[in-house]
This record gives sequence, C-alpha cells and structure tokens, in this order.
Amino acid sequence: MSDEDADVELEARLREQEYFRPPSKFVGQANASDPAIHDEVGEFPEGFEAYAELLDWDEHWDETFDGSNPPFFEWFVGGKLNASYNCVDRHLGERKNQTALLWEGEDGEQENITYQDLYREVNEMAAALRDVGVEEDDVVTIHLPMVPALPVTMLACARIGAPHSVVFAGFSASALAERVDSADSDYVVTIDGYYRRGEFLEHVEKADTALEEADRDPQVLCWTRHDEVHDSADVSDEYTMVPELLEDHRRETVEPVSRDAEDPLFLMYTSGTTGKPKGCQHRTGGYLAYAAATSKHVLDIKPEDTYWCAADIGWITGHSYIVYGPLALGTTSVMYEGTPDYPHKSRMWEIAERYDVDIFHTSPTAVRMFMKWGEEHVEGYDFDFRHMTTVGEPIQPEAWLWYYKHIGDEDAVIVDTWWQTETGGHLITNLPALDDMKPGSAGKPAPGIEPALVDDEGEELEPAAGKAGNLIITRPWPGMLQTVYGNPERFIDTYWADFSDTDSDDWTDWNYKAGDGAVHAQDGYWRILGRLDDVMNVAGHRLGTMELESAVAEVEAVAEAAVAAREHTEKGEVPDVYVVLREGVEQSEEVREDIIEAVEDEIGAFARPANVHFVDDLPKTRSGKIMRRLLENISNDADLGDTTTLRDPSVPERIREQVQGD
Ligand code: WTA
Repeated sequence: MSDEDADVELEARLREQEYFRPPSKFVGQANASDPAIHDEVGEFPEGFEAYAELLDWDEHWDETFDGSNPPFFEWFVGGKLNASYNCVDRHLGERKNQTALLWEGEDGEQENITYQDLYREVNEMAAALRDVGVEEDDVVTIHLPMVPALPVTMLACARIGAPHSVVFAGFSASALAERVDSADSDYVVTIDGYYRRGEFLEHVEKADTALEEADRDPQVLCWTRHDEVHDSADVSDEYTMVPELLEDHRRETVEPVSRDAEDPLFLMYTSGTTGKPKGCQHRTGGYLAYAAATSKHVLDIKPEDTYWCAADIGWITGHSYIVYGPLALGTTSVMYEGTPDYPHKSRMWEIAERYDVDIFHTSPTAVRMFMKWGEEHVEGYDFDFRHMTTVGEPIQPEAWLWYYKHIGDEDAVIVDTWWQTETGGHLITNLPALDDMKPGSAGKPAPGIEPALVDDEGEELEPAAGKAGNLIITRPWPGMLQTVYGNPERFIDTYWADFSDTDSDDWTDWNYKAGDGAVHAQDGYWRILGRLDDVMNVAGHRLGTMELESAVAEVEAVAEAAVAAREHTEKGEVPDVYVVLREGVEQSEEVREDIIEAVEDEIGAFARPANVHFVDDLPKTRSGKIMRRLLENISNDADLGDTTTLRDPSVPERIREQVQGD
C-alpha cells in the first residue's frame, strides 16, 4: 500500500469515530470553561504570563520571553522563585492539615501526608542533604521507587537549588551508572528495597554495582522502606543511612533558595536515536508555570480534589503530573507503590473507591490490560471519576471506548494528552470542557501551542488536510527543555537542525522537531501516529533501538545485532532482536539467555526482548546500513515492500521464512 493510500484509509477510519460531548456536570464546574482562553494564552509571549502568575515569585520577571539566542530560549527572565516553596510552603496558610499525598504501599500500608507533614519532611531532608555536602547546582541522582521518600527528596533538592536527576527504579545498575557519570553527579539517593508482587525486592544492590561501574565515585544516601533496614537487604557501611541522618535534623527548617527562573530544576534522561540517553534539562520558572497551568486547565485539578496519576514518578509524567503540577495547585494526590494486579486484579478500583478519587490518570497500556482482564474486575466498586487522562502512546478507539464505558461509566471526560519528556507538559490535548472527545485523537493544540506538519524536506503541509507528516512545533513555550545537559550541539542537532534555518538569529525561523508522525484531520483534530525515528514505545516507556542494540552487542557471541519494534496488543510495542553470531559460535538457548540478560543488565527488565532470532545476515543497503524497517515488517507480518536496492535482496526473504516459520 502506498503512503497516500494509507493516509486515505486512516482518514476514513478517523472520520468514522463519532464525537462524545463532555457531560454537562463536568462542563459546569471546569477550570477552563471559556473558549477565549485560546486567544488569551495565544498572545505571544504575554499570554503565558497568566501561567507564571499561578506561582508565587520572590522577584517578578523583567522579560517574559527572550528569543535572541535561538534555540536557547529563555522564559520569565530576571524572575526568582523556589519550586519547593511553591509546592509546599505557600499552601500552609490555607490548608496545612489537608492531605498532600495519600500513599498506599503494595503491602496495604497507608500513609496520609498533610502539607504540614510534607513541609516538615522536605525541610529535614533539605537540611540532611546540605549536611552531607550538597550545594546549590550540584546534581543529585535519585534512584527511588514509588515511596514518599521520592517526592520528599525531589522537593528537598529543589529547596536548596540542587537539580535532581531521577532515574526510574526499574532501570538497571548500568543505566544508573551511565546517568551518574553523564550528569556529573556526586550524590546518589537510594533505598534498601520495596515491594513488587508481594516480594521485598532488594534495590540498594543496584547502587552497589553502579558504583563499581561508574567513573565517578558518588556518595550514597540510603532510605529504608520500613523503620529498619529489611532483613534481606545488605546495605554497605559506606552509605549514609537517611533515617539516622534525619534524626540529626529533626524540626530544622531550611530557607528555600531563591532560584533564577532559568536555573535548572531537574534533568530527566530519555532515549533518543543514539546509544546514549540524553539529559533533558528543565528550567525552574517556565517548567513549573507550565506544569501548574496544564494541571489546572487540562487535568482540571482543584485543591479540594483527590487526584490519582498511576504513572511512576521516575518518568516525566510523574514529575509534571504527580509532583510539580498537582502540588503547585495544592491538591490531594494518591501515590501507589505496587502493580495493578497485586494481590488481585481489582486493586486499582479498590484504591479508587477507598479514597474516592475524582481524577484518574493512566496510560493506554494500562487501559488495554484492564480491558483484557475484563470488566468483571471493575464491577461492584463504588467510585466515580469525573475526569480520566491517558498519556504516553496513541490509544486505540476500542480501548478508548472500553475505558469510557467501564471505568468512566459514560459520565466522565477522557483527555488524551500528547507530549514528551522534552516538552515538560501537554502540547496537544483537548481542554475537556471546551472540545468534544474523539476516540483515538489527542485533539486540538493546548492554548498557546502552534503545531504544524512538514514533509521530509521541511515543506509545510496544508493544515487540516488529513495527511500524515512530521510533527513540529513552530513557536516556543515555557515548559520546553532548555538544552541537553552538557551537550548544546546535541540539543540543536536532535530537535532543531532538521526543520529550522539554523543560520538565522530570528527565533521565528526555528521549529522544534518532535520526532513523531501525525495526521491533522479535516476537523482540526490531531492524531499522533508514533515515533518516526529509531525510538520505540514499550508499555509507554521510551526505548532507543540503538541502546538495545548496544546492550545486545555486549554479548561476546554476537557479531551483529538489530532491534525491531513488534506490535503487541497490550504493550503497544515490544523489542524483537535479530542477531548474527560470530563465526564458529552455535546458536543455543544459552546465547539467547545471555542476550536477554545483557538487555536487562544494561537497561532494565522492562526492556526485555520478546524474541531473539538468530539469522545468517541482516538486510543492508549497498552502503552497509541496516534496514530495520524490513525487520520491522517481518516482525509484524507486513509486506516486505521494495527490496531491490539491498546489497543482497534475498536476505529479508530468508529471514522472513525463518521467523514466520518459527
Ligand atoms: C508518545 C511521555 C500518542 C510519542 C509524556 C512521544 C503519545 C513519546 C502520546 C514521548 C499520545 C506520548 N498519543 N503518542 N497521547 N503521548 N506519546 O518522552 O511518541 O516518555 O514522542 O513522554 O510518547 O514519550 P516520553
């Protein structure tokens, strides 16, 4: 099928989807209920001042936007503020004894942390961090699971102006070591362990191995999951135990450091097209303003709500929409340690009922899983969401409709939000009271955001033409990343070079490349098709093909490897590995296991390959470039298409016979 036919077919499928009106009881109470918001925020750049005004500033900014040195844009220049003050201290006046975090452990343990408690804990941790030597601008690497220590440590870092770099707990020791080195970080915060499916999972050992592998020699601070170190965990004497350290700082307060709006708040490493993940650097003022405003307008969060984002704080969704946005607005957030099916498949709905959650936020992967488990696991639980968000991947209309009916009771809005680690917050999403919902479409641009589609040559496609193209954003916004930590060239190359006039110092000549394909339908709704580069999306986790390939290449028996994304009904995509073994090495179960283990060691268990195929050769162009697209077609039972330009056109056919006969 030609691309053109594909466009037409897709457009037809999109048109078939009916619109769903937001329920009037939602519209009547929504934070964003006046369509004028688009024009108001769209006044560039002054419109975004309303976002910054949601925060408390120590000093007002002089200039809203400075575009004089593209693409290093600056926001709210000259302003000063502290993120921890905005997420904690400023709420004490009105709601000090309101719950900030409702934490639920997998083992059923519960903690109810008020804003006053959070204030105390963040201050004590800030004092503790200073005690071990953390200074303003030192990067603190945090490798913690979903326990209260995680947001507390992040906010403590923010309080003393130390940018944090949170590494998802599921990442391996090697991934941790790589991020410690890349961020020049001298501090690692970890924990003895946590609960996963009823087992106490030792976690601190990853820090042990990371220290052996890293070039730097960071100090390690270790929290404990219970009051004492768990029997099964072995914590090195060299590590500072956080509970003991906190004892020395009971009731201490630490003045929040007044940070420039442009001072970095955090780094978040994310996968790209090369082997090494990049540290997206987010600024304090613009990021916090954008996270707070989108939490208010898109997620419709109010202080009196109980809000639950079931993502992990170790990814950007948790940063913006568990920690910074919701806490800046002073709401009550639920945080859950464990997996959704432990000890039973109704765990999520049991929690939703217990805390009477109003707003629920999850991923399409999770929705597909709930759908597979069946509605019988939902029935009988008494909860009533008014708002449900999805994020991270395209949601298929079937899954959307199931979510709408069985979780939302046809009485809640669904908001499909498109954004990225780099963008800090939502960029394409409906404002739920203002736009009708359309299953499978992220919807319209968020206020002030100007997306466009271009072809591979950078020519802009006609708007609302129903054609697929490269998604770009033509105007800066406050939540955008500042740079790639320590690598401004990579920042320019990755996000700007392809579709900007890089010789120009006029910011309007610069366009941000999202790396996603999209269709702009005739009704003005955007549908995101997925990554155009070598990045895959496994259960909502972004993984670089090259990262996976370099992990596989570590195995001695492997001569050459390529990774292709295979479509998967629940996870969206899973990695298939194609390997050519070295001369004289026989394929065996042992080599297969070595390969899988290498991926788990280098990246983490969540990246585990679905299949390992041993092949004689990989499909290559005449210049020797591996044609991953063909492998992807093979993995997905699609047509091979044109293979005549290959060095050896018989290769893909042979692989196909082998794999599909598997
Ligand atoms: C994909 C997650 C379709 C997309 C916040 C993007 C989506 C990548 C959606 C970023 C959506 C995110 N519909 N695709 N609503 N949201 N994506 O950095 O490919 O982990 O580029 O940020 O996820 O993933 P990241």
